[in-house]
Amino acid sequence: MIDIKGNKVVLIGTGAVGSSYAFSMLNQGVCDELVLIDLNKQKSIGDVMDLNHGVLYAPTTTKVRFGKYTDCADAALVVICAGANQKPGETRLELVEKNMVIFKNIVGQVMDSGFDGIFLIATNPVDILTYATWKFSGLPKERVIGSGTILDTARFRYLLGDYFGVSPTSVHASIIGEHGDTEVAVWSSANISGIPLKDYAAHDHTENLEDKMIEIAVQVRDAAYKIIEAKGSTYYGIAMGLTRISRAILQNQDVILTVSALLEGEFGHENIYIGVPAVVNRQGVREVVEIPLSEREKELFDISVNTLKKIQEPFWI
Ligand code: LAC
Repeated sequence: MIDIKGNKVVLIGTGAVGSSYAFSMLNQGVCDELVLIDLNKQKSIGDVMDLNHGVLYAPTTTKVRFGKYTDCADAALVVICAGANQKPGETRLELVEKNMVIFKNIVGQVMDSGFDGIFLIATNPVDILTYATWKFSGLPKERVIGSGTILDTARFRYLLGDYFGVSPTSVHASIIGEHGDTEVAVWSSANISGIPLKDYAAHDHTENLEDKMIEIAVQVRDAAYKIIEAKGSTYYGIAMGLTRISRAILQNQDVILTVSALLEGEFGHENIYIGVPAVVNRQGVREVVEIPLSEREKELFDISVNTLKKIQEPFWI
């Protein structure tokens, strides 16, 4: 595994998620250069102007411009947010047909530029499209990463923190599996500063923790549907999750995040990209971290893997 070079990011797709990601990257000062590509050139150019006008108030000077696929040649990171997104009531998996066609085209054009960096995929169904990007690109597995359950874990830790009255940064708990309806809340190792949740709950909560756990897991799983019903689509949370992964890569952080990574035997599965804890740095996914799972969590994870494989396999026969 070798490190990527430089600090340039190319963003493909400047819809709600992509433009929110660009805004988040500038405000957090994560990269030196951010190139925007979109079929809707006029909208992208408007985003470029709008973002550049705010750079004075950002922590660092990020050069933002509209670009072409040839700009990927020396990019450290190409982030793909392009594609169709969920309509109210539509599942992420129902998007696969149309987005698979879009991805074959996009990844082909990126690779034609001589790109030799890391792909970060956000478009849904993200696990299946990350696998497709790995196959279409021919890049080593560690250099193709999906947003996975980065946002689900953030939702989980937010809701637990809200319930226990502590910051999400003090809650250590993960969502793994499909970024979707079969995702798995890993309760067995969830803790607050090393104190298992049920022990932490003992000292200041009366209501039945079991019921609360079920309620929170459902709120996490269904969050996107609720937000889509309310405002048409989700974009701020995922944009901040993508920024977190981008920072982990570009700053070589070796931080463990629940991203979509290729399994090669871990958790008893292979040939599938799915949300798991993984060490992320300038090589991409340095390694998958096989956290302990209860029997029930392992069963649910297996269901999640098999759900994705059932949709994915017909595309690769
Ligand atoms: C969500 C989208 C990113 O969960 O799938 O908000």
